[in-house]
Amino acid sequence: MGILFALAKALEARDDDTASHSMNVTKYAMLLGRQLGLDDEEMRILGQGAMLHDLGKIGIPDEILKKPGDLDEIEFARIKEHTLLTSEILAPLETSNYYSSIARSHHERWDGNGYPDGLDGENIPLLARIVAVADAWDAMTSNRVYRAGMSEPVALEILEKEKSWGQWDPYLIEQFIKVIRKETESSNSYSVFEKAI
Ligand SMILES: [Fe+2]
Repeated sequence: MGILFALAKALEARDDDTASHSMNVTKYAMLLGRQLGLDDEEMRILGQGAMLHDLGKIGIPDEILKKPGDLDEIEFARIKEHTLLTSEILAPLETSNYYSSIARSHHERWDGNGYPDGLDGENIPLLARIVAVADAWDAMTSNRVYRAGMSEPVALEILEKEKSWGQWDPYLIEQFIKVIRKETESSNSYSVFEKAI
């Protein structure tokens, strides 16, 4: 656990945006995991894998990682490498397989048009599919230097519309919408997150 936290801290030191993003994605992924009824061990792996899912960005040059405008094809290809870089960084850890499959597959798409392996549907590991939904949600709702985040009702509407769009597991989207609605009502989203990490 100490080593995993140290790695998360290393990424935080490199890029503030990614740091808060990783913590938010962890929170949302665990809320969805709980909704799906994952057991304690799966929840532990999900939490730790979500925290480290973008760790490979530590190996992407600043001019690409922090570029405010659109990326060209070569730069985008470089960004895509963060999925594989994470696996390489974690490889010396005995338990790295648990986390690296989440990192490797969190940009795969339900319709098979994602990267790096072009997996589709349930061929994408479940925990990576969960992180993909949490990742999209945080990207939509959080503020970035170059744009303000969407409000939750607007982001929920988009998720609802895009259930059949092909990017995410439609069942997970359905469950995630329930989670966010529940959270908005009770606003105690940190309890499950704190317990499991
Ligand atoms: Fe990513």
